[in-house]
Order: sequence, then structure tokens, then C-alpha cells
Amino acid sequence: MDISTDVLIIGTGVSGLYFALNLNSNLKVTVITKSNIRDCNSYLAQGGISVARNKEDIDVFIEDTLKAGRYKNKRSSVKILAEESLKNIKVLQNYNVDFNMDDGHFNYTREGAHSIKRIVHCDDETGKQVTETLIQEVKKRKNITVIENAYLADIICKDNKCYGGIVLREGVQTNIFSKFTVLASGGIGGLFKNSTNQRTITGNGIAIAIKNNIKIEHLDYIQIHPTSLYEKEKNERKMLISESLRGEGGKLYNINGESFIDELLPRDVVSKAIFEEEKKTNSPFVYLDISNKPDNYLKERFPFIYSECLKRDIDITKDKIPVTPAQHYFMGGIGVDEYSRTSMENLFACGEVSCTGVHGANRLASNSLLEALVFPARAAKIINENIDKMKLSIFDVPILTKTKEDIEIENKKLVINKLNNIAEDSEYELVDC
Ligand code: SIN
Repeated sequence: MDISTDVLIIGTGVSGLYFALNLNSNLKVTVITKSNIRDCNSYLAQGGISVARNKEDIDVFIEDTLKAGRYKNKRSSVKILAEESLKNIKVLQNYNVDFNMDDGHFNYTREGAHSIKRIVHCDDETGKQVTETLIQEVKKRKNITVIENAYLADIICKDNKCYGGIVLREGVQTNIFSKFTVLASGGIGGLFKNSTNQRTITGNGIAIAIKNNIKIEHLDYIQIHPTSLYEKEKNERKMLISESLRGEGGKLYNINGESFIDELLPRDVVSKAIFEEEKKTNSPFVYLDISNKPDNYLKERFPFIYSECLKRDIDITKDKIPVTPAQHYFMGGIGVDEYSRTSMENLFACGEVSCTGVHGANRLASNSLLEALVFPARAAKIINENIDKMKLSIFDVPILTKTKEDIEIENKKLVINKLNNIAEDSEYELVDC
């Protein structure tokens, strides 16, 4: 069976949904996801979204982003990120995202390596609130169709031009022909034994890029978040303990109760210090303590973390939280320009699967959701302006002989092989497949 659409988007995280919403409402837009619409990393984001608070803050925000990224960032993209931050946050407000406010002003929070408080948030579940709001907006749009449990087996391409995607649904092949195709399929966290990411996010988009000779960049730029909840014998996704706890005054101690690092240094620095401390004290975790704050404040400001920890017999108003670093984000990915265009014609990439260069070698906290807004909005504008010049091409596509499971294993192996050189270190232990 074949489907024709103007724009095919792969992925229902914030970047995919926001992309769809920024396309003209007269375009036929098809969004697919390999599992269900909420099964994405955006949904898990706790801390918030960075924003340049005013004109004066733009340069400071740029410098914070560059410094955290070890100055390996693409400066022109960082400038775009900072300059276009506020206007995209306002779009979310217009969609009724319920950001925490004080007297009509944003209640900004802080995280590591930000020199001021500039992160807007919805308690400690910003990703969930933003994604839910975008899902509701997408449902209102008659021109957008979301297809769940649709696995992208490959893109349809010829002579470095993309014509859509080959999709498997319950074992049945559907060829979706599109004028423009957008990979917004997320990162690679599911390939790591210890990761805060959804286990389903296994680098499919990266594997497809490798197979089709699409430019990829900086596979070695992998971010380890300093504080995931330490749980003995837990092999599933690690629960994130948001950096905003440290931004709001949480302190790190080794198991002997000694302080060992400035909590607000960039993530790579704090993670390294924790690993060293764990080795020194022969312990698989250190402690994060925020119990110095009033009980009610903690319950209101961090309701999700409070209740999830309580389920595990940790009362954050009294107890220290055992934490350890875990893989969290992928700064490398499919190389794109400032409008999210890949090296293949008519193919865009957005969000964690892409490498815009904004994060450099180490992402500044809360810049991921921002990137997932700013760059899809820019790319959608390009499509809106150019769609009329495009003709849909439909042609025979070979019948797939492999199952979804075979392709998935093949793709995981492909990316794991590429990562192996980097991942020798036990801190980056990869899954077996
Ligand atoms: C966190 O809340 O610590 C994660 C936010 C992010 O990854 O930027």
C-alpha cells in the first residue's frame, strides 16, 4: 500500500510535533512514530527550556552555551538559538503551556553552567507538559495525521534526493511518498546500558543516515548526566534527578558526607568528578541532598521527583538521594545547516538526531527543548516557501525481505560498531545485541 503526503515527519517528540505545527495548514502532513505518540525523550525532560531573558542576556546566554560546549559549538547556530528563543517560548504560551509564573513573569530556574536564572519550566515535568500541549494542538489540525506503531525501515531515495519513507506496520510495508521528509527520530540512549533515555530510542535515524551516505557528525559527542537515581539491579531506564535540584541549592556529597565539587559546573565536569569520587570511595553512587529546603517548597517545586523517590522509600525532604551519572544526550548526529537541511536533497533532520552544532561537545542544560523548537520552526518556513515548486514523485519501491526486528538489530549493530571506539570506557557501556 502507498500513501502520498506533502511532508513526512518521523518522530513525535517536541521537534517532530512542533515542525508539523509550523507547516502551513493547507499542507498534508503525516507524522509517524515507531511506538506510541508519548514514547519519546522530550516527554521525560524535567528541568525546563532555556531562554534569553532580554536583549542584554543574548550575548551572555551565547557565551554560557559556548563555554559549556568547550567552544566546539557552531557559533552562528548558537546565535540563532539565543536570538530566536523568546519568540518560540511565546508560541508555546499561546498554545497554553502552563509555565510556572510569579506575578505575570516567568519563574526562571537555574541549572549548571548558566550564569543566571534563565530557564522557564512547568514544575519538574516541563517535557511532559510541552509534549502534551503540542499533541493537543496537533489533534486540532485536520491536515496532520499521526500514525503510531509505524517503523521507518528506510528512506526512499535516489541520486541523493529523498522521496519519502518505507514504513512497516504490523509486518506490512507501506511506502509513504512525500515532497519533503523530516527525520526527528531522537538520539541513541537506548544503546547504552545506563541511560536516562527511553529504551526505544536506539539510533534508527543515525543508522539510516549511515546506510544512505548522509553526512553525520561528531558521533563521539555523548553527554553523561551527573545525576540519575542510583537503583541497585535496575536494568531499565535510569530515572533522571533534574539538574534544577542543584540549581535550586541541592548539594553533592560522597558517601562519607564530604563535599567534592561545585554543583553548578558544566555537566561533563560534574559527571567526571562523581565518577572519580565513586572510585575513590569504592561506592556505586554519591548523594544529592536538598533536604535543607522547606518541605512544602520541595513538594510543590519538584512534585514528580518527590513522588517518584517516595515510591522508592526516599523522602527528599529528609533523605539524601543516591545518584550516579548516566548517558543522557547525543550532541552529534546528522549534520544539518541553519535550516535543518541535511546533505540529502529534500531531507531535513531536527532534534536530537540532528547535529546543528549548537551544543558543541557538551550541551548546556535545558538547551535541548529549545533547539527542538527553534530549528524546526526555521525549517518549516523553508518548506512553506518552497512546497509549491515541488512535484510528488511516485515510483516502484522494492519489497522488503527483512522483518522490523531484523532491521532494528542490524541498525543497532551498525551504530554500536561506530560507537565502539568511543565506548571502550565502562562509563559508556553499550547494550549487547
Ligand atoms: C535536567 O532536568 O537535568 C535535564 C534537563 C536537560 O537535559 O537539559
